[in-house]
Amino acid sequence: MCGIVGFVGKRNATPLLIEGLKRLEYRGYDSAGVAVLSVSGMAIAKTKGKVSALDAELANHPIEGTAGIAHTRWATHGAPEQRNAHPHRVGQIALVHNGIIENYAALKMEMIERGASFLSDTDTEVMSQWLHDRCAQGVSFAEAFGMMLPLLHGAYAIVALHEDEPDTLYVARKGSPMVVGTNDAQECWVGSDMLALAGYATQGYYLADGEYAILQPSTMRFFAADHTPIQVTMQSMNVGAEIHDKQGFAHFMLKEIHEQPDVIRKTLSHYYDHETQSVHFEGLTLDPTTISSITMVACGTSFYAAQVASYWFEQITHIPVRIDIASEYRYRHPIVPKDSAALFISQSGETADTLAAMRYAKEHGAHTIALVNVPTSTMAREADSVIRTLAGAEIGVASTKAFVAQLTTLAALVLYFGGARSTLSSEETAHLMHHLSGVAEQTQQVLDEKMHYDRLALALMYARDMLFIGRGTSYPLANEGALKMKELSYIHAEGYAAGELKHGPIALVDDGVPIIVIAPDDALFDKSASNLEETAARKGNIVLISSKERVANFHGNVTHSVAVPACHPFVAPILYAVPLQLLSYYVALHKGADIDQPRNLAKSVTVE
Ligand code: M6R
Repeated sequence: MCGIVGFVGKRNATPLLIEGLKRLEYRGYDSAGVAVLSVSGMAIAKTKGKVSALDAELANHPIEGTAGIAHTRWATHGAPEQRNAHPHRVGQIALVHNGIIENYAALKMEMIERGASFLSDTDTEVMSQWLHDRCAQGVSFAEAFGMMLPLLHGAYAIVALHEDEPDTLYVARKGSPMVVGTNDAQECWVGSDMLALAGYATQGYYLADGEYAILQPSTMRFFAADHTPIQVTMQSMNVGAEIHDKQGFAHFMLKEIHEQPDVIRKTLSHYYDHETQSVHFEGLTLDPTTISSITMVACGTSFYAAQVASYWFEQITHIPVRIDIASEYRYRHPIVPKDSAALFISQSGETADTLAAMRYAKEHGAHTIALVNVPTSTMAREADSVIRTLAGAEIGVASTKAFVAQLTTLAALVLYFGGARSTLSSEETAHLMHHLSGVAEQTQQVLDEKMHYDRLALALMYARDMLFIGRGTSYPLANEGALKMKELSYIHAEGYAAGELKHGPIALVDDGVPIIVIAPDDALFDKSASNLEETAARKGNIVLISSKERVANFHGNVTHSVAVPACHPFVAPILYAVPLQLLSYYVALHKGADIDQPRNLAKSVTVE
C-alpha cells in the first residue's frame, strides 16, 4: 500500500526521500511524488508509474529543500494519474496520506460549498483543502492540524508541511502505521515502514493510534488524541540498509525462496531446546490446557497457513478449530466462544482486516495471539500474546519465506500444545520434531533442483487457466499454489480440494488446462491418484508433485511430474510449498512479469 517518507534536517531532503521511496517500492504502488521546503518556498514533483520516473523528472527539474515529504500511492479514490498522486498541495500546504478517509465525500461537499476547487479525485485532498481553509481564517497551522484529526473517519497516516515553517513536519496516525525516527545529527525521519529509515535513524517511535507529533530538528513534540503533550520512549532501531540488497539473486522473491532452509533452522532453534527436547513459547501467556477452542483468522497466504494449522491442531491436540478470512470475520458478528484462543496470523502485522478482527475478538473476551513477522507491528503491540515468525524482512510482494516461517512456527506450536495437553507423549513430540528439523535439508534439495521447475514453467506459461488440487493439508497448499501463480504470472488459477473436483470444476478440464496435483506420500495419496485419473480421462494436462518414490512408481496418465524428497506427512505442507513457489516464479519470469512488484498488489494491505 502507499508508502510515506518524511525528513527534516540540514541536508538536501530530495535524494534522501527518493532513496526512502525506493525502499518502499516493495509495498506496491502506481504513482509517486515528493514535496520539499526551503527558505525560498515549496517545490513539488509528481509522476505516474515507478519511482524511477519521478527520479528522471527530478534529474530534469531538480528541487531542493531541507524538509520534505514523499509518497508512493496505491490508488483507492481516483485513477493512478499524476493529478491524483501525493503530495496534495493547496496554497502553502502539502500533505501525504496512507489509508482511507471514509467521510471524505461529506467533507469535500462542505469544502466545495465554502468555495474550494478540487484538483484531484482523492479522499486525501479534502485534508489539504480543510487545513488551507482554516489557515485562511487565521487559525495557526499547528492548531488547524490538531482540530482536523477528530473530524476524520477511517484510517490514516499523514505527514503535512506548511511553507511558513520550513523546518517542521506534522505527523498523525490512526489505523495506518507510522514510525518517527531520529539520530545524533539532529535529523527527524518519518516512515510508513521502518525500512524507509533503516541506516538513517538510530532511534524510533511507532506512533500509537490517535497520536500526533510536530517534528523539528531540535525538538520533537508528541501529543495524545486529546492534544495533551506526551513523553514517548524511543527504541533503538537496528535494521541495516543491507536488507535492500538482492545479494546476487535476480529478484527478492528468488532470494527469499533460497533463504527458507535457514528460516526453518532458525525457527526451530528458537522454539525447540534440543537438549531438553522441549518446545517453548515465551511470548505466549496462555495456558494451553485452559482453552476449549481456537479461532484462526488471517488474509491471503497467511490464511492458508491457518488452514494448514487447523488440520494439525485438530488432529494432534484435539482442540476444535475454526478458521476465518479476516474481512468476513470482522463483519459477520461471530460468536466468540468462552475460553477460546484467537490466533491472528500476519506477515506484516498491519493488515487492516486482520487487525480489526483481532480487536473484535479481544473485545469479546478471547485471548488474542498475534503470530507476526514484524515484531514492532500494531498487531504485536495490541495482542495478549505474541509469537514471532523469524523470516526476516520479506521484500517480495508474494509471500514465500514468511509462509514457510508461519508453517514451521505453527507446527512447533502444535507440538507445544500437544505436549501441554498430553495428546502427544514426549517421544511422539521428539519424533515429529525430528522430521520437522529434516525439512530444512529437504528444502535445500528442492532448491538444488530448481532447473526442473524452470523447464516445467516453459511448458505451462501459455496456459490461460490452471487448477491446483490436493487433499488434507495439501488442499490449503493447493489454494496457496494457485494464489502464487495468479499473483505472479496473472494466469487464472484456482485451488480445490481434490475430492471436490467432480462437483463442478471438472467441467473446466480440457487439454489446455494444466492441473497441478499435490499428492505427498501420505494416507490420502491413492485417493488423490484417483482424482488425477478422473481428470486424465478428460484429457487433463496433469502435473503430479509427489515423493521421488511415488513419482518413479506411478504409471498413471501424467504429462509432467515433479519429484520431491521423501518426508513425513506432518511436514509435507512446508516442503511442498517450495515447488509451488518455484513454479510460479519461473512461469512469471518466462512471461516477463514484474516478479517483486506484481501489478495492482501491495505488500502490506493497510486499507480494508
Ligand atoms: O501481512 P499479511 O500476512 O497479513 O498479508 C496477508 C496477505 O495480504 C498476503 O499474504 C498476500 O496474500 C500475499 N501477497 C500473498 O503472496
